[in-house]
Parts: sequence; structure tokens; C-alpha cells
Amino acid sequence: MKQTLCTISSNDEVMPGIHLMWIESPDIAATAQPGQFITVRCGDFTLRRPFSVHQVSSREIALLFRVAGKGTIWLAQRKAGEKMDVLGPLGKGFTVGPESKNLLLVAGGIGIAPLVFLMHHASAQHQITLIHGASTAAQLYPNGCLLADGSDGAIQFIPVTEDGSRGKRGMITDILPDFLDWADQIYACGPVAMYKAMVLTLNPSPLKGEVKGESEKQNNLKMKKCQVSLEVRMGCGFGACYGCTINTNEGLKQVCRDGPVFELDDIIWREVRI
Ligand code: FES
Repeated sequence: MKQTLCTISSNDEVMPGIHLMWIESPDIAATAQPGQFITVRCGDFTLRRPFSVHQVSSREIALLFRVAGKGTIWLAQRKAGEKMDVLGPLGKGFTVGPESKNLLLVAGGIGIAPLVFLMHHASAQHQITLIHGASTAAQLYPNGCLLADGSDGAIQFIPVTEDGSRGKRGMITDILPDFLDWADQIYACGPVAMYKAMVLTLNPSPLKGEVKGESEKQNNLKMKKCQVSLEVRMGCGFGACYGCTINTNEGLKQVCRDGPVFELDDIIWREVRI
């Protein structure tokens, strides 16, 4: 983890209300792992804002962020050449098992941010299917940004839109079952509602956790494994303030230090308030 003043290389609105920002940061680019994040001091705001590392190149990292509050409004107005206070890389990222060949990536909306880094990182040695769900075609990630230099093209991109304006109509969880037998590992990032729906989709129990006398913990043990990245409000970003604590089957965890990547079935979702 390192705090540096980084120069902004570019900052473009790539989808309505969504910016792609490249920052010169050779140290973070060299050490960041998919699923890790950085924090940025946004103007005079006291709390730093966390952002997943979205892509890396040899000397730069990219952030993909939705303009949704004072901090990100400030960030969206930054120009190439300006400096920014960046701290990272932080947290624990995704892990890919040595035996895994087929990786299923599930992105809800802006949740595609950390999964593109994972996709680029793993595409040379793995078959990847990326399902990206959005409300409408305009909110889907631009195709041109998907394939990294050197990718062998072993990536299947499946768009899903709620209004049917591109790809399949409906929700991600409508088509998720079609890929479960194929996938050796599943990775997801999106809103809590998507995760809660995935718990039901990935749980093979016909009673979906309603077995009388069976605890949520016991029942979740039967689920297909899936790593999820949590996006929560953070204070410090490195384990000092306990502002990001969640309850899991293993006890209380801090999203910034123990995550942001967790096993889907480790989180006690009925207690999650994000
Ligand atoms: Fe401070 Fe996680 S944000 S402990």
C-alpha cells in the first residue's frame, strides 16, 4: 500500500453518467491484483472514496465510476494532467484455483469495474464468459473496451438488458442457471439485490433455505461457490475505523481489510445494509 500523487492521463464519459479515468501509477499498476481497490482524496472531502482497480497497463491504472455524489462529481470534472492523491492497492482480491479452466463472470451495472481486470488477467489461460446486466443498452459496457492487448479472444460476452434493447431481455439470474454446469468458478460484482437473487439461484436445495430447523449457515454450505466483491461506504480503507464491518458466518469482518472479495455463502445477507 502506497500513498502517491498521481497524474491523470485521461477522464472520459464512456456511458451516460459513467467515467473511465486512467491515472499514471506505475507502482500500483505493477502490484495490484484483480478485485483490489484504491482510495482517492476527492477535493476537500475528509473521507477518501474507494474505487475498484478496473484495468492496468504497464504504468497506469484505470477507474470506472458512476457520477453519483459530491466526491464523484468532483472526480468527473478532473482533467488530464491534474494530480490526484491515491492510496493503494488495498484489500484482498479474487482468487483463481489452479485447476479451474472455465470462469463465469457476472456483472450487474457498474459492477463490471473489477471484473474487467480479472478478465484481462485470466484470459490468456482460461475460457471466460462475462454476463453483463444493465437496465438498457446505453448502460452496457462498450465492446471496444473488453479485449485487452494480448487477449486470445477466449471471451464470450453476454449482454442482458431489462428492457430488451440489447442482448437477452430480463435479469442476469434468468440466464445464470444455463452456465452453472460449465463454470469451474464464478465471480460476481453488482448490487446487493443481485447477490440475494444469486443466493437463491446457486442454492441447489429445492426448499431454498426454508428447511425447518436448518440454519442459514448449514443450508448455505450446499451452495455452488461464488466470489463476490462488496461495495460499501468506507472511512479509512485499511482496517482502522471499523466503518465497513459486516457479519459473516465466520464472524464480523471488515470489507476493506478482509475483503472486498468474499464468498457469497459466507455473508449473512439478511443483515447486510449497504
Ligand atoms: Fe475503516 Fe474498513 S473503512 S475499517
